[in-house]
Amino acid sequence: MTTLLKINTSLHSDDGQSSRLANRYVERWQAAHPDGQVVVRDLAADPVPHLTAERFQAFLSDPATRTEEQARVVAASDELIAELRAADVVVLGLPMYNFGIPSTLKSWIDHVARAGETFRYTADGPEGLVGDRPVLVFAARGGQYHGTPKDVQSTYIEMVLNFIGIRDIQFIYAEGLNLGDAPRREALDNAFDEIDRLAA
Ligand SMILES: Cc1cc2nc3c(=O)[nH]c(=O)nc-3n(C[C@H](O)[C@H](O)[C@H](O)COP(=O)(O)O)c2cc1C
Repeated sequence: MTTLLKINTSLHSDDGQSSRLANRYVERWQAAHPDGQVVVRDLAADPVPHLTAERFQAFLSDPATRTEEQARVVAASDELIAELRAADVVVLGLPMYNFGIPSTLKSWIDHVARAGETFRYTADGPEGLVGDRPVLVFAARGGQYHGTPKDVQSTYIEMVLNFIGIRDIQFIYAEGLNLGDAPRREALDNAFDEIDRLAA
């Protein structure tokens, strides 16, 4: 069965603009894949805790001697990784908050980027272990940064996905959402048109 993993990272869950764009794509995808399965990971509704020394230590712990708490931490991380691996296509809603990614998404990344699981170091440098698959990123921003050196968000997302082995990444932007009604309407209309073209 074809599976789409939708990761919502807006603090407004499904009501965020990034989620609205992602949902539009998912609706089109479902129409084209009536037997497809959609898995939703909503990081506002169900946040991944911040990585702490204790949680990181759990990743490094010997399975034979793990405490119950360490086993819970590893199992939760394993579940996120398995969900990602099982996805044929990933849809990521990506708001810009304070020039970066939502902290909820950073916590998700901190529990997915695990040495020996999703990447490993070799003599030739790091190697991603997740396996490539299309990732569509729906980026919503109050201002306009795409194509400028200030867009460290896109660079970061691309870099971290590449690091775990995902290279097929496409960004769809809705920018200038806080610049007034007309620019906002235009940006959303353009993004929706782009999504419809993509899904056609
Ligand atoms: C806490 C917060 C911080 C924000 N920081 C930025 C920013 O640094 N740059 C920007 O262009 N927009 C910023 N915005 C505007 C959001 O990018 C915009 O509202 C976008 O629609 C958020 O996506 P969402 O609706 O999916 O949550 C910020 C919004 C919030 C709530």
